[in-house]
Amino acid sequence: MKISAILSSSALMCSVITATWALPSQILSQRASRRHSNPSLRIEGPETASEAANTTIQYSGNWSGAVLVSPPSGETFNNAVGTFTVPAMLTGGSDGAAAAWVGIDGDTYATAILQAGVYFSVSGDSVEYGAWYEWWPNYATDIDTDDFPVSAGDVITVVIEATSNMEGTVTLINESAGKTFSINQTSPTKLSYLGGQNAEWIVEDYTQNGGLVPLANWGTVTFVNASASTSARTTLGLADATIFDIEQYSDIMTSVTIDSDSSVSISYA
Ligand SMILES: *[C@@H]1O[C@H](CO)[C@@H](O)[C@H](O)[C@H]1NC(C)=O
Ligand SMILES: *[C@@H]1O[C@H](CO)[C@@H](O)[C@H](O)[C@H]1NC(C)=O
Ligand SMILES: *[C@@H]1O[C@H](CO)[C@@H](O)[C@H](O)[C@H]1NC(C)=O
Ligand SMILES: *[C@@H]1O[C@H](CO)[C@@H](O)[C@H](O)[C@H]1NC(C)=O
Ligand SMILES: *[C@@H]1O[C@H](CO)[C@@H](O)[C@H](O)[C@H]1NC(C)=O
Repeated sequence: MKISAILSSSALMCSVITATWALPSQILSQRASRRHSNPSLRIEGPETASEAANTTIQYSGNWSGAVLVSPPSGETFNNAVGTFTVPAMLTGGSDGAAAAWVGIDGDTYATAILQAGVYFSVSGDSVEYGAWYEWWPNYATDIDTDDFPVSAGDVITVVIEATSNMEGTVTLINESAGKTFSINQTSPTKLSYLGGQNAEWIVEDYTQNGGLVPLANWGTVTFVNASASTSARTTLGLADATIFDIEQYSDIMTSVTIDSDSSVSISYA
């Protein structure tokens, strides 16, 4: 039962990836092209990694990190927050990209995601960083670098706030400079109202012009001061979060550790 499920999902992933792999030239034209951060593509799992720590691991085609997969009974998530340091991407290896973000919904509740973060992309000798926000299924909107420049080492706090199921505010704060970017968002369609069922801290293999970008080696991104809160003002940390690892072509590409109730480290493996 389990094996057949794994085989069929792996086969599906392969066909998805080979069909849509982004060309390096698409990464070059990053700013002009359509980047898209997507719902989690759950494949095999979940499995219990450590009974003692109650850690559950879920494999995904494009998400790595920590996901609170459901709020307390009768409540909905309306806030998720986390702080991370923009990784210094190295050139000289192969081209690729990834994005770190905080969001609400998009896993078990797959019809919406309200999210914001930073992408990092390597192409030849150049590295590009940029902040963005997105209400899935819309494409990502780049934040003008004049308004919010991003470089390696910046300490960025992301605050995702749902004010209703169809409205929210995303805020990015540069802790290094005390600079803030904030914008109100409305659900792009009636089918993408938030459910408030998931909250997450993710490094993603995103899609660009319809294809998954090759994953870049980002080293480690650690979200700190991470928490989510609910309609009933309950605040939850990451202790009971499900770990997501990216699996492609049957390779596990990431290593994720929940360091504490407020921190998760996500490494390219
Ligand atoms: C994950 O990546 C795939 C491949 O690009 C993309 O088609 C999909 O929208 C993403 N999420 C889900 C849920 O499939
Ligand atoms: C794991 O879950 C069980 C049952 O919910 C609980 O009794 C136990 O305290 C948990 N262990 C840890 C380390 O959180
Ligand atoms: C954040 O602050 C640092 C230090 O002042 C600055 O170099 C960087 O460009 C700023 N980034 C953003 C996103 O404002
Ligand atoms: C978002 O909307 C609220 C309520 O209408 C308003 O007070 C706030 O200034 C708006 N924020 C931004 C960044 O536009
Ligand atoms: C995390 O929160 C604490 C307490 O509010 C604060 O002192 C610390 O600077 C924060 N860490 C980062 C990296 O923002």
